[in-house]
Amino acid sequence: MTAAELRQKYLDFFKEKGHAVIPSASIVPQNDPTVLFTTAGMQPLIPFLSGNPHPMGSRLVSAQKCLRTDDIEEVGDNRHLTFFEMLGNWSLGDYFKPEAITWAFEFLTDKKWLGLDPKKIYVTVFEGDEDAIRDEESIGIWQSLFEIQGIAAEIGVVNQDEPTQDVNGARIYAYPKKKNWWPGATMKGLCGPDTEIFYDTGKAHQPGFDKVCNPNCDCGRFVEIWNNVFMQFNRLSEGGALEELPSKNVDTGMGLERMVAMLNGNETVFETPEFEVIISAIEQVSHKKYHDTKRAFRIIADHIRASTFVIGDPHGVVPSNIGQGYIVRRLLRRAIREGHRLGLTDPFLAKIAAVIIGQYGTHYTELETNRSHIVGELQKEEDKFAKTIEKGTKEFEKMANMGTITGEQAFMLFSTYGFPIELTEEMLRERGSSIDREVFAAEFKKHQELSRTASAGMFKGGLADHSIESTRLHTATHLLHRALKNILGEHVEQKGSNITSERLRFDFSHPEKLTPEQIKRVEDMVNAVIDQDLPVHSKEMTVAEAKMHGAIGLFEEKYGDKVKVYFIGNEITDFSKEICGGPHVTHTGDLGKFKIQKEEAVSAGIRRIKASVSGR
Ligand code: ALA
Repeated sequence: MTAAELRQKYLDFFKEKGHAVIPSASIVPQNDPTVLFTTAGMQPLIPFLSGNPHPMGSRLVSAQKCLRTDDIEEVGDNRHLTFFEMLGNWSLGDYFKPEAITWAFEFLTDKKWLGLDPKKIYVTVFEGDEDAIRDEESIGIWQSLFEIQGIAAEIGVVNQDEPTQDVNGARIYAYPKKKNWWPGATMKGLCGPDTEIFYDTGKAHQPGFDKVCNPNCDCGRFVEIWNNVFMQFNRLSEGGALEELPSKNVDTGMGLERMVAMLNGNETVFETPEFEVIISAIEQVSHKKYHDTKRAFRIIADHIRASTFVIGDPHGVVPSNIGQGYIVRRLLRRAIREGHRLGLTDPFLAKIAAVIIGQYGTHYTELETNRSHIVGELQKEEDKFAKTIEKGTKEFEKMANMGTITGEQAFMLFSTYGFPIELTEEMLRERGSSIDREVFAAEFKKHQELSRTASAGMFKGGLADHSIESTRLHTATHLLHRALKNILGEHVEQKGSNITSERLRFDFSHPEKLTPEQIKRVEDMVNAVIDQDLPVHSKEMTVAEAKMHGAIGLFEEKYGDKVKVYFIGNEITDFSKEICGGPHVTHTGDLGKFKIQKEEAVSAGIRRIKASVSGR
């Protein structure tokens, strides 16, 4: 089975069960300051899981583009990916545990769908604690589903610190929050118990892992294939109390690539059909074989795939030294270095990206639309990196000619010139010398701590930061957008938006720097609307109706059939009309004084404004 086939089957199945198929949201989150990239299918749905009605209804299904950057260094082994697709179905206060679990089981085991052997399926549930009760309801549902299939469904209790019960003894396993609560045991925001579904590969238990095998044992026998979260709580603060949500939601997630590998009996995700094509393209350009250098091939395939999706997104970002752009740069440079290891001296990123666009462009049409942009950016980055290497080599030569290179100097080459440490090592080795790794590591650690502190400050707040400060700034963003169009012209278009609890950041198309007078006029216009204390309200409508109303929207983005439009205005006329998921304040008077803190260039033709509101 290909990823494209499984994606389609999943969407079709839930469509049959009354779900609206929603397109993947941007991989670069809009109006969510807490994350750099979309990391789960539920993330763009946070406003709706919090109780706002979704324009497409209360049953949704999607394949979402996701990027997780925590484990970049791990990519190259047999299971880590940065970019992946997450299949998910949602109930927004509609169905709950019985339907969610029964449908999951049906999709996995029914011959009409995936037809997996139910005997190979094992599940886990939340065991309960002083905070929330044991998930008896899920246990009961699973028991009856297994029993109908003639499969005994004993319940296993696993002490995760020292698992003592063999998997053969049970079918349903209860674990504490550490394993069966999403997103984390004590994390702030939307959360709830989950039930996870595992597939038994039949491999023998490996010593060195848990004492006895159980679904959460990492020996490789069990593969987690699907997570069903019963998202019915909001945790008010980190480690704080739980509050019941107005609606009981279901949030599920299935990693597409991993599931395809499992269905095909592939050893790893890199042997699945889509990856096979990418890998074979790398074989062709490098004249090397995957089987001889798996690690390098996997890194190249994963990193170029991720970068292609991020650059090619409707809100795409290009390689740079900050934020999301820095991640793209890191991924690409890592891919180039692995390419060097394979002996690739000519540019190759764009060639592999073209194959990736071919694999995914039918479903993710933005990749086709943005093909030349993607290819151009990859070529530019490869070129820049080549220059970095050239410059770094010159610096290296200068330093080396003056004596041996110290750990500090090696770090300087790395931090100031972006010169890869591996290259410094290699070149020293050629001269019969070596690096002082300890000094280098100490410098590196210092540097890392500094950047971690900076990013912790930048992204403070939980997953669902819909604090009043962020909400105010979100409404201010709509006012700013409209004021810019009114003052500079209708050519102004949103190119990016990011909000923290302290400031908004708005990127837009405009050919030149704003004059101080223009900045003042924009501020005055926004403040005038705030002073009028205009009501903010929203309405659901079709995209065509929204266009007819003259609503601003990113129409190149694929919206679902129905959208929500936020109006800011009085009975006679609206100052702003914009397609948006919310949340917003109810009256502009809540914003307090609006101030533009900074206006600067992002790239040719794109300006950036940072602004704040004083709050009321
Ligand atoms: N949001 C859940 C996850 O990512 C389904 O696992």
